[in-house]
Amino acid sequence: MSSPALAAIAALPQADLKSIFTTDPDRLSKLVLSQGPIRFDWSKTHLTDDMLTQFLALAQEQDFAGWRDALFAGQAVNNSEGRAAEHPAERGEGNADSVAHAKMLHNRMRGLIDAIEAGALGEVRHILHIGIGGSALGPKLIVDALDGDGVRYDVAIVSNVDGTALERAIEGFDPHTTLIAIASKTFTTSETMLNAASAINWMVEAGVDDPYGKVIALTAAPEKAMEWGVDETRILPFSESVGGRYSLWSSIGFPAAMALGWDAFESLLEGAAAMDRHFRLSDPAQNAPLIAAFVDQYYTRVEGCQTRALFAYDERLALLPSYLQQLEMESNGKSVTRDNEPVVGPTAPITWGGVGTDAQHAVFQLLHQGTIITPVEFIASIEPGHVLDPAHHRALLVNCFAQGAALMRGKENADDPARAYPGNRPSTTILLDDVTPEALGALIAFYEHRTFANAVLMGINPFDQFGVELGKEIAKSIEANGPTGFDPSTMALIDLALGAE
Ligand code: F6P
Repeated sequence: MSSPALAAIAALPQADLKSIFTTDPDRLSKLVLSQGPIRFDWSKTHLTDDMLTQFLALAQEQDFAGWRDALFAGQAVNNSEGRAAEHPAERGEGNADSVAHAKMLHNRMRGLIDAIEAGALGEVRHILHIGIGGSALGPKLIVDALDGDGVRYDVAIVSNVDGTALERAIEGFDPHTTLIAIASKTFTTSETMLNAASAINWMVEAGVDDPYGKVIALTAAPEKAMEWGVDETRILPFSESVGGRYSLWSSIGFPAAMALGWDAFESLLEGAAAMDRHFRLSDPAQNAPLIAAFVDQYYTRVEGCQTRALFAYDERLALLPSYLQQLEMESNGKSVTRDNEPVVGPTAPITWGGVGTDAQHAVFQLLHQGTIITPVEFIASIEPGHVLDPAHHRALLVNCFAQGAALMRGKENADDPARAYPGNRPSTTILLDDVTPEALGALIAFYEHRTFANAVLMGINPFDQFGVELGKEIAKSIEANGPTGFDPSTMALIDLALGAE
C-alpha cells in the first residue's frame, strides 16, 4: 500500500457493526447527510472517526481539491486524451465559455424539439433512439424512471447489434410516424451504424417518403453525421469534452427531452447542477460524493471486496444498476495511474445489483451467509411511483430497511449454524424524497462525482476507456480479413458458426 493514509487506515482495528451504535452512539448525526432531495446514510458501514480523519488525509495526499478545481475549470483532466471532462458545463456549472457553448447547443435542441412538436417532420408518435453504451444507458434510465403520465411519445431505445433487439424495438411502431434518433458521440460505432441502416431500410420497405428526413443525429462528430446522410438542420451536436458515459445531459438526452417535455429535462439538469455545487463547494468532511468514495475505497482497497452491489427499492430506478455499471467500471476499471505507472492495489470493484424485493428472493442468500463480503447500497424513495394501495410502498420500504438491519445485526444460532447469520455486513442507504427529475439529476450527478472522487483517490484517469478497443479491433479484422491468424479455439468457432457464409 503506497499511500501512508491508506496504510494507516488498514492498521486501524475494524469495529463490529453489530455493536457500533453502542460504541459510537452519535453515528447518525455524523454519518447521515442530506443534500437537497436525497438523504445519504453511511452509519451502517465500518467508517469511524479515525478512518474519516485518515481518508481526509488521503484526499489531501491525492490533491482532491486541486483535481476538483481542475474538473470544474475545464482543464484537461482526461490527460491521456488531452481533453477536459465538461459534463458539469451541460448543467450550467464550470468554465464560463463551456457553459455558454452548452447553453447554445441546448437552445438548438429545444428549437428542434419545438419545431418537431409543431409538425415540421410530419406526425410523430414514436421515437426510435439508436445508440450504445453511454449513448443509450443514460436516456434509457431517465425515460424509464420518469415515464409517468407526462410522456408524450412511445420511446424505444435500441443498442444491441443483435437484430432481435431492433426487431423487438420497432414492433408496434408505425414507420410513417416514427422519428429515428441516432446517438453516437463518434458516429462511427459499428453496432449503432448497422442498426441505423436497418432502421432506414425498415422505413424504405414501408414506403416512407424521405426516410433520412426523419433522422435526428445526436453527436460530437456532426461532419460524420452529414456524410452519413443527415441534414445539418437535424444534427444536434454536443461538445467533444463531454464523455460518452457522462453525456445524458447533452443532446444525447434528446429522447428524454422529447418524451418528458423540456421543463422536465431542465429540472433534471437543475438537480444535477445543485449536486455539482455541493460537490464543488462543500468541505471534504461534508461532501457526499467524497464520503461515498471513502466508503468505496475502504471496502475495495483495504478490505479487498471485489464487488459492490446496488439494489433499487423502487421500480422506477430498475435500470440504475446497469447505468452505474458503465459509469463506474468503464471509468475506474484501470490498471495504470494517470502517470502510466502500475496502480498499487485494486481499482474499481465490479458493480452489480438489481431491484428489491426481487433480488431478496434470488441473490440475498449470498449477501447474508456467503463467504464473500459485499458492501451493499440500498436506494429507495419516500414517495411511491404509483397510485395503488399504499400497502405496496410500505411493504417495499419495510423490506428495504429490514435487509440493511439484518445484514448489520445478524443472528446467532449455536445449535444450528446453517440458520445463523454472521451480521457485521455493511450497507449504505440512499433515500430520495421522490423520483422527480430534480432528484434523479442530483442522484446521477452524485454518482458521477463519486466515480471521479474514487479516481482521484487512486490517482487514475476515469475519463478514458482504452480497454474496450482491442476487442473492436479484432472484430473488425475478422470482418475484413476472415478467420486468419487466430488461436485454434477462435478459428474453430468462426468456422463452425460463420464459415458457411
Ligand atoms: O466502446 C465503448 C464506448 O466508446 C463507450 O465509451 C461509449 O459510450 C460507447 O462506446 C458508444 O460510443 P459512441 O457514442 O461514440 O457511439
